Amino acid sequence: MHFTIIHHSELDSTNNFAAALIKQNALIENFVVSTEKQTNGRGQRENLWWSEPGKNLSFSIVLQNISFETTRMFDLNIITSLSIIYALKPFFSEIKIKWPNDIFANGKKIGGILIENTIQGNKIANSIIGIGINVNSEKMPEFLANATSLGIICQQKFDLHLILTQILESFGNVWNQMSIYNLLATEYKQHLWLLDKKHRYLDKNGIFIGTLKDVLPDGKLVLADEFTNLRYYHFKEVEFIYE
Ligand code: BTN
Repeated sequence: MHFTIIHHSELDSTNNFAAALIKQNALIENFVVSTEKQTNGRGQRENLWWSEPGKNLSFSIVLQNISFETTRMFDLNIITSLSIIYALKPFFSEIKIKWPNDIFANGKKIGGILIENTIQGNKIANSIIGIGINVNSEKMPEFLANATSLGIICQQKFDLHLILTQILESFGNVWNQMSIYNLLATEYKQHLWLLDKKHRYLDKNGIFIGTLKDVLPDGKLVLADEFTNLRYYHFKEVEFIYE
């Protein structure tokens, strides 16, 4: 898979810039937008994405004219999460996917994913896959108590461009394995943070102890409650409670 890389030292958000380029029909093929500093980096749930300028990776992979069925939307999430996991695995054994959009290492968040799709009929025409990875930050701000970086864990400095190219290469490799979907789904499940472990969760009825059992092809999370009843959750319907 080939990507033209468009780099700017500062942008409001690589996802926003990518959306503007798609609108202008600026490029016909797949491309990547990356920056050293985002002034309005966006996260899940309308949150801001904090990242120390110049130290970390903030980029968006843009897939154009993919004509992907909307029913398979969650596949994009699986492919992206696994690409990051495979690219970063040489650095830590304990790298996991926290459903639905986070990458965890040693129990803390080192990265996040924000996928924004353009839908036409029942197809995804274009997909903007925004990825933020904490790479060389030596200290995370206090308000991000549950976040860390590659550098903090490994006590070394990383070449940002090298990590970016490794993730892109990995993305191409995983994309090419899409025909063996079952293998990807199994790999995804094996890398889920807290799989088969008891943890505290919050849903609209309050806090409960649940055990993460599976993620379905449509992206729903399956938790077993204390009475081994299965509960199914879509994005935003449940939260992990940190101790
Ligand atoms: C999250 O964990 O809430 C998702 C974070 C996604 C952050 C990335 S950084 C590059 C891209 N541009 C953005 O504005 N957000 C994503």
